[in-house]
Amino acid sequence: MSWIKEGELNLLEKISASILKAGPMPKHVAFIMDGNRRFARRKNMERQEGHMQGFDKLAEPSLVFQTLRWCKHLNIQEVTVYAFSIENFKRTKDEVEGLMELAKQKFERLLEERENLEKHGVCIRVLGDLNLLPLDLQRLIAKAVLATRAHNKCFLNVCFAYTSRYEMTNAVREMAWGVEQGLIQASDVSEALLSQCLYSNNSPNPDLLIRTSGEVRLSDFLLWQTSHTCLVFQSVLWPEYSFWNLCEAILQYQVNHKSIQNARDVHREHQKLLQLEADRTCALSAEHLQRHGNGKPADAGRRQEALSHYVARRQERVRHFLEALTTKRDSFFTDLCDGGLA
Ligand code: FPP
Ligand code: MG
Repeated sequence: MSWIKEGELNLLEKISASILKAGPMPKHVAFIMDGNRRFARRKNMERQEGHMQGFDKLAEPSLVFQTLRWCKHLNIQEVTVYAFSIENFKRTKDEVEGLMELAKQKFERLLEERENLEKHGVCIRVLGDLNLLPLDLQRLIAKAVLATRAHNKCFLNVCFAYTSRYEMTNAVREMAWGVEQGLIQASDVSEALLSQCLYSNNSPNPDLLIRTSGEVRLSDFLLWQTSHTCLVFQSVLWPEYSFWNLCEAILQYQVNHKSIQNARDVHREHQKLLQLEADRTCALSAEHLQRHGNGKPADAGRRQEALSHYVARRQERVRHFLEALTTKRDSFFTDLCDGGLA
């Protein structure tokens, strides 16, 4: 039993995958895996069985098709899934406990198959506020994250105890902490810096986001990261998701690829201009000129020099701050593991 199953696609799937791969392919796909309970009701199953089959659809070999294997064959290197929202804590105690128990079992299994994950180069990241989870689950997650952190062939980001607004609020708090500690200045706050403070700081933004079960909303998932992402809403319930559903979503991505790329390029250029403007304003502030030009009106050469000097200092501050943030986050995981992975 494995999170990543080896195996080939059948002939028809292989041909379809090759045709799709001739076009632009998403490198990072995010899933809102919705519809587990409706699936269970329709099949007269226990609710927990619906969630179990939902997990199987993501990563188990017990069904013929599973999502991570398809993604591997479609050269999709990164997958992000919404496994448990902070809102989900409002479900019945019974259901929440069932989902926590399922997660424990799956992370335990994941740790048992470390070799397989190493062979496939799978890096598992968990995005969310782990403090909200039971301590034994926190420990298992920390072990899984640390055991796979050096792998770099493909990435599975599991959003657990996550909502996007919570993530953004946390990022703002991290920056406030940086200012408090004297690591950065308030004027260093920018869109790029906020992105670096999100739980998703190590990932590119998703190219394609898929929500199953016919619901057409984002439910507080990756709101910051998906402003230039192709959004596809499909009516199929998650446990019934098929290779062909994924192909259909990729086709929609391909049809919209050009306009998405254009929008991303425009945004990137606009951000560069905004940052340049902000740097100019700070560099040429009266205080700065006093230090570098004795208060006299600066000529073009001196303005350029002041700007370069300011940008280099800002980049250095930001680099130190991000290093401190990484150390803080790493020690959260290492402390949880109590110094050992065994
Ligand atoms: C949405 O269906 C599904 C969930 C809230 C849970 C998703 C979790 C898994 C598939 C397991 C993943 C676990 C790990 C460890 C990665 P729903 O419950 O909202 O069903 P409904 O929309 O039909 O009510
Ligand atoms: Mg739902």
